[in-house]
Amino acid sequence: MAGKVAFITGGGSGICKGIARTLMAHGAKAVITSRNQEKLDAAAKELSEATGGECLGVACDVREPGTVEKALDAALERFGQLDIVVNGAAGNFLCPAAQLSYNAFRTVIEIDTIGTYNVSRAAFDKALKKNGGVIVNISATLHYGATPLQTHPSAAKAAVDSMTRSLAAEWGPLGIRVVGIAPGPIDDTEGMSRLMPEGMRDKILAAIPLKRMGTIEEIGDLALFLCSDAARLITGETVVADGGAWLGNGAFQL
Ligand code: COA
Ligand code: NAP
Repeated sequence: MAGKVAFITGGGSGICKGIARTLMAHGAKAVITSRNQEKLDAAAKELSEATGGECLGVACDVREPGTVEKALDAALERFGQLDIVVNGAAGNFLCPAAQLSYNAFRTVIEIDTIGTYNVSRAAFDKALKKNGGVIVNISATLHYGATPLQTHPSAAKAAVDSMTRSLAAEWGPLGIRVVGIAPGPIDDTEGMSRLMPEGMRDKILAAIPLKRMGTIEEIGDLALFLCSDAARLITGETVVADGGAWLGNGAFQL
């Protein structure tokens, strides 16, 4: 990763802060974004101190192309290039479809799906079409079957997976790989604290073939592999990292 610059949405917390940490520990410079500048400044300081690498926090809302373009401009001004984009910004909450407001459904689609398009498109225009690179879309496994209370993110992430394939096909000739990561339940994250219903932890663990949740570090390692030349033939693919969780859809009670 030495000499590479990564632009990571949602990079101020959770899984994507972990991806920033791993890429930086291997020599990359990172630009982390979310809506909260204060949170980003604290995270950038923490990441730099932990890895000895350079990190810039720039606030933007992935739903607003103008703010995304400004954040990319700030990244290019600071580091002069851009090689890796991680689309991790997302919003989620448990809610039955029958109680979901029209605006709630639209909000999640706007952050996850349209946000992924906005950032990919702007990064393509500003840097990737000139020098190639890698886009990593953070997905999920919710939509492989049907996950109750998760109609909104399931629709959003299914569209993200489709975009991973379409953009890989269109932009491959320019030296751009587009890949995805579909994490299962990852411990110590905002996602899990929002989505794991009270008292369900043991039941969830019992249903996972590897009998444990994933860690933020494990998703960071997968992102490192996918961004590296070791994955140079892989594009259009979304890699599941879930300890086998979605395979049996709850059938694994061994
Ligand atoms: N259940 C049902 N509806 C909900 C909800 C919940 N828990 N939380 C928010 N909504 C609805 C709101 O009521 C609103 O709809 P309305 O205008 O019809 O009332 C709509 O969703 C948008 O909410 P708002 O708070 O205005 O949106 P926001 O853009 O400020 O925040 C969220 C986006 C709702 C996704 C917010 O939870 C968030 O910022 N999440 C980021 C972190 C995250 O989700 N991490 C986990 C990633 S897996
Ligand atoms: P998280 O820490 O809440 O990450 C989501 C990030 O997105 C936050 O940093 C949030 O910051 C940012 N964000 C939200 N809305 C935004 C917007 N409009 N513009 C810019 N940034 C925005 O949660 P996480 O659990 O680590 O999830 C990270 C990714 O992994 C998500 O894509 C999620 O869907 C995926 N995932 C997680 C799990 C899991 O077990 N945790 C499982 C499967 C998939 P602000 O709120 O400060 O803007």
